Amino acid sequence: MKFFVDTADTDEIRDLAETGLVDGVTTNPSLVAKSGRDFVEVVKEICTIVDGPVSAEVTATEAGAMVDEGKKLAQIASNVTIKVPLTWDGLKACKALTQGGTMVNVTLCFSANQALLAAKAGATFISPFIGRLDDIGEDGVQLIRDIRTIYDNYDALSTQILSASIRSDEHVKQVAIAGSDVATVPPDVLRGLSQHPLTDKGLAAFLADWEKTGQTIL
Ligand code: G3P
Repeated sequence: MKFFVDTADTDEIRDLAETGLVDGVTTNPSLVAKSGRDFVEVVKEICTIVDGPVSAEVTATEAGAMVDEGKKLAQIASNVTIKVPLTWDGLKACKALTQGGTMVNVTLCFSANQALLAAKAGATFISPFIGRLDDIGEDGVQLIRDIRTIYDNYDALSTQILSASIRSDEHVKQVAIAGSDVATVPPDVLRGLSQHPLTDKGLAAFLADWEKTGQTIL
């Protein structure tokens, strides 16, 4: 499973990218607003840090205007992926942009049928929001399982499942088990995946025993 990082904070992206674990980045208008920076500038900077897909979301709601915004954003760098909402107009824009050779991430997906439409419209990625489904008492991970089953039923559907709205390490594990192609995760969730109390305890014991030997490696 690929990891994308779900943030517009370039300091965070730079730090996380040093591990080699960051396969791409997703942003949205809320994350750009949180960064307090100019949208185009921040996307441009992210694209200098990460070679993989960098999602930049259109804010128009009519298909033609979405395509125009998408074309403008796609000029920032060759790895920019245009994010469009899963609306009827968003599906039209998805078709037009992917036909023109631009990667498209269809976002705000909350049902398997929506994911089927996005795949048929040529989406490069579909972003089901699992945390927000959990928030309303539904099972977000089940949506990933359902989409995986549907996409695997049809060779013609090549859209990658990009699990989004991930809030916990349990979410990451469950979407990996479900066969998600990508998980986009907030920086603190990605860092948290490396942690286990027994790792810390074991390391402390090894270092204490090493200290007793009086040796050094270098
Ligand atoms: O990129 C969009 C998505 O991951 C949003 O997450 O936590 O705001 O539902 P959240």
